Amino acid sequence: MSYPVKEVSTKPYDGQKPGTSGLRKRVKVFQQEHYTENFVQAIFDSIDAKGQTLVIGGDGRYYSPEVIQIIFKIGSANGVKRFIVGKDAILSTPAASNIIRKYKAYGGILLTASHNPGGPNNDFGIKYNVSNGGPAPEGVTDKIYEKTKTISSYKVLEASEVDLSKIGETTYGPSEVAIIDSVSDYVELLHEIFDFPLIKDFLESHKEDYPILFDGLNGVTGPYARAIIVDTLGLPESSIQNCVPLPDFGGAHPDPNLTYAHSLVEVVEAKNIPFGAASDGDGDRNMIYGKSAFVTPSDSVAIIAHWADVIPYFKKGGVKGLARSMPTSKAIDLVAQKKGLEYFEVPTGWKFFGNLMDAGRLSICGEESFGTGSDHIREKDGLWAVVAWLNIIAAANKKSPNKLVGINDILNEFYSIYGRSFFSRYDYEEVPSEGANALVKNLNDAITSGSLNNSVHASSNGTQFTISGLYNFEYKDPIDNSVSKNQGQVITFADGSRVVFRLSGTGSQGATVRMYIERYLPASASAEELAKPAAEGLQSLIDVALELSKLKEYLGVDKPTVIT
Ligand code: G6P
Ligand code: ZN
Repeated sequence: MSYPVKEVSTKPYDGQKPGTSGLRKRVKVFQQEHYTENFVQAIFDSIDAKGQTLVIGGDGRYYSPEVIQIIFKIGSANGVKRFIVGKDAILSTPAASNIIRKYKAYGGILLTASHNPGGPNNDFGIKYNVSNGGPAPEGVTDKIYEKTKTISSYKVLEASEVDLSKIGETTYGPSEVAIIDSVSDYVELLHEIFDFPLIKDFLESHKEDYPILFDGLNGVTGPYARAIIVDTLGLPESSIQNCVPLPDFGGAHPDPNLTYAHSLVEVVEAKNIPFGAASDGDGDRNMIYGKSAFVTPSDSVAIIAHWADVIPYFKKGGVKGLARSMPTSKAIDLVAQKKGLEYFEVPTGWKFFGNLMDAGRLSICGEESFGTGSDHIREKDGLWAVVAWLNIIAAANKKSPNKLVGINDILNEFYSIYGRSFFSRYDYEEVPSEGANALVKNLNDAITSGSLNNSVHASSNGTQFTISGLYNFEYKDPIDNSVSKNQGQVITFADGSRVVFRLSGTGSQGATVRMYIERYLPASASAEELAKPAAEGLQSLIDVALELSKLKEYLGVDKPTVIT
């Protein structure tokens, strides 16, 4: 039987280059005539999806319902055999990664701009994932970009819209559409990983003195969090908030950090909640935050690695190796060294972990950008990290039944063993690209000329820092030998401190400059020193970094937009 396929002429649009995590632009950009269709056709021109199964999901943000129908039309016209779609087009990024792997799909298309705000005047995004469930590697995204530059037509199946609200199978021209429950496969997966009976026991017996709160920030994790926290762990409704996904995230910025997750921070502080957590729009990021207790993402992944043995998945399968992105603090390296594990430093972007996992050399990894995860899937996983922490806290309390062990006890014990890597990140969002490029060029010039080598810099309070190294980070993937250059300027200091400058790859407007600051204090330091607020521990290094990079001059701004 033949089906009506139409060929539509089009012209290329500039700038359809996928960033760190897919193509992200304002909704209005995607709404231009043929813009979305061009990009979707470019994906199909770059892969060979004929006769294959594709998973389609996303965070449910504004414009997703329209785009999913476009994907059906173009995908089917390009030969896709079967689409697996979350009900109402909802699949968190980690859930989609799991579905791709579990049902052995060829790949997946995720409609999300992650933690960027949504709604008609904000962001939309399209991201392609490959068969291992992870983000497409650069080879694939470069190919997609090349195709967008020369596209002259796209193909559509002339068919009516698919109703995404009903679970079940439908035929769609020559293809099939399976609409599945968005949550159940994911919850099943977490059950295979964590010790839920232990967590449940602990939380049930500490309902009064250890209440928890999860904030979905109106993003996609709401239904997943409800299934885990309320339905599985049997905790009260008051343990979750903002857990109904909204297309514009209720006007909020669904990014779990101290600035944007204020809805969580405020309630945790006001109600003295010892354990709080939040996830981002598409569910792959997380923040762990209890009353007066903040876990930096760099510490979080290191602590999960340190405690891996209490998590059944790792107890059974072992920990193969550890990894972090380059700007992430080196805390996890110390855990790897102590445990005698292999460890890796990769560029920013979760896709770099995938090859190592597929090769069986990596189990636990994380990024300073509130991403934590493991080889159970090929994306970072917000709720996985939250349940990992609950598992650790429950296990720690089992070990010490006479004293309630909380987040700060876990942190302080970790620092007393490994020392502490104070870490902070300053973001300068949506600054003019010229200034950002000039800042980077100045650092690159200093790298070439060696002009800053061994120079000594003093902060206003007199603390001195001597530069011991300056380089542009480059990574050679040990599995496929691909090389990624220009991944950020790194300045190292004689005392082991480190400052990194990097341009964000996820912004949708202008440029965003990130400055990462890390200072290490050995375990031999006093408990008071080790427990200091990060801002205090880092201030002099921050002063020096700002001065030697001339950041304020280049960017024409005085203060960062976000500090994490
Ligand atoms: C996304 C990726 C992360 C990455 C982050 C970096 O969230 O999934 O793996 O760390 O982007 O964002 P940036 O804006 O710093 O390029
Ligand atoms: Zn995300």
